[in-house]
Amino acid sequence: MIKLDLSYAKLDEDLDAYQDKVSEAHKWLHEKTGKGSDYVGWVEWPYDYDKEEFDRIIALSEKLKGKYDVLLVCGIGGSYLGARAALEMIRGLFPADGPEVIFIGNTFSHTYISQVLKHIEDKEVILNVISKSGTTTETALAFRIFKQYIEKRYGKEEARWRIIATTDKNKGTLKELSDKEGYEEFAVPDDIGGRYSVFTAVGLLPLALAGVDIRELMEGAREAHEAYKSDSLKENDAYKYAVARRILNNSGYKSEMFVTYHLQLTMIAEWWKQLFGESEGKDGNGLLPTSVCYSTDLHSLGQFVQDGNKCLFETLFLIENMPLDIVFPDDKENLDGMNYLSGKNISWVNEMAMKGTLSAHTEEGNVPNILITLKDNSPRAFGYMIYFFFKACGMSCYLVGVNPFNQPGVEVYKKKMFKLLGKE
Ligand code: PA5
Repeated sequence: MIKLDLSYAKLDEDLDAYQDKVSEAHKWLHEKTGKGSDYVGWVEWPYDYDKEEFDRIIALSEKLKGKYDVLLVCGIGGSYLGARAALEMIRGLFPADGPEVIFIGNTFSHTYISQVLKHIEDKEVILNVISKSGTTTETALAFRIFKQYIEKRYGKEEARWRIIATTDKNKGTLKELSDKEGYEEFAVPDDIGGRYSVFTAVGLLPLALAGVDIRELMEGAREAHEAYKSDSLKENDAYKYAVARRILNNSGYKSEMFVTYHLQLTMIAEWWKQLFGESEGKDGNGLLPTSVCYSTDLHSLGQFVQDGNKCLFETLFLIENMPLDIVFPDDKENLDGMNYLSGKNISWVNEMAMKGTLSAHTEEGNVPNILITLKDNSPRAFGYMIYFFFKACGMSCYLVGVNPFNQPGVEVYKKKMFKLLGKE
C-alpha cells in the first residue's frame, strides 16, 4: 500500500546503525514503557477499538441519512484536522455525493464565523462538536454561537438530535453540558491524545456522517498495523522513514517540507504538520514541518527550494492512482502552442512535473528527497497511511528523546490570552 524510496535521500549515515535504538523505542511504544506511555492506546486500536461504539456510529449515520444538507464539525487541532484531511483526500474538493461539510470551532475569525452562519441559513444542518478536554476556547466559543443558532431555528427539542457530542467519557464541561441537554455522545478514549485520534469517534463519526466507508478505513489501519509491527529496520518502512528524517536532522537540516501534487492533499499536509510539529517540537528539538503543493508552489517557494538556504529536505507524498483523469484535447489551430501535449493524460503531465522537479531539486539543487507513495486515495489507503505516520512519528520522537504525546508549549499562549480575556 505504501512504497518508501530513500534513493534520493542523500543519507550520510547507515540506517542499520540505528537498529538498537529503534528496537528499544519499539518496546517503549508496544510495551507502554516510554515517555508519555499513558497515551499509546492508538498502537493496538485498529484491533482493540470500541466495537459497540463503532456500530453506534454506523447506526447513527444511517438513521440521519438524508436529514441534512450541511454537517458542521466543530473542533480544532487533533479534533479537526484528521477528518478534514480524510474528507478532502477521499472525496476531493467538490464532491459529487454526500453532504457539504463545514469545519467550525477552529478559529476566532469573526468574519469566517459570520459567513458560515449566513451560508447555512437556507440549508438543513446538523452539528458534531468534538473536544476531548471540553474546554478548548475556539471550539467552545463557536459551539455556543451555533448551538444557540440551531436551538433558535429548530427549537430545543429538535436541537437534541441535531447536535452530537464527542468528548471525554466521564468528565469535562462539554460532557456535563451534553448530559444535561441530552445529546447523543461518543467518547475520546483516555489513552489516545487528540492528534492520534483519527480512528476513534473523533475522526470516524464526521466521516461516517459524510458518507465515507469507515469499515474500509479501519481495515486499512489493521493492514498497516500488520505491516509495521516488526522492530526490524529491514522490514518496517515507517521506522525507516523515522530514522531517515533523524539522520537528515543530524546532518544539519532543520526543516522537512511535505510535498504533494494534488490540491485535495493540502489538508493531509496540515494534518501531518500538526502530528510531527506538536509531537516532536519540544525541549529545543525537532524538524520544522512545512509543506507545499506542487506544481502550484513551484511558482512561489520552488525558487527557495532550488536555490535558497539549504536548511530543508523534501518528503514527497505521492498517490499512484488518483481518479478522474482527463485527456488533453488537440486544437487544429494550435494558437497556444500546446499541441505537443495533445492526447496525453493530465496525470502524465503531473507525473512528468514531479519527475523533472525531483531531478532539479536533488541534482542541481542538492536537496535530499524522501519518496512516500500511496496506492490510491481510498478510505482503506487513508487508514493505512495514517497508521504509517503515527508509527513513524512515535519512533521519531523517541529517537530524539522527547515525549511524543504531550504539548506543554501550547499552554503558554493560552495563559497569556486568558489573562487578556479576563478568564478566571
Ligand atoms: O493533539 C492534540 O492533543 C491537540 O491538538 C488537541 O487535539 C487540540 O488542542 C484540541 O483539544 P480538545 O479536543 O481537547 O478540544
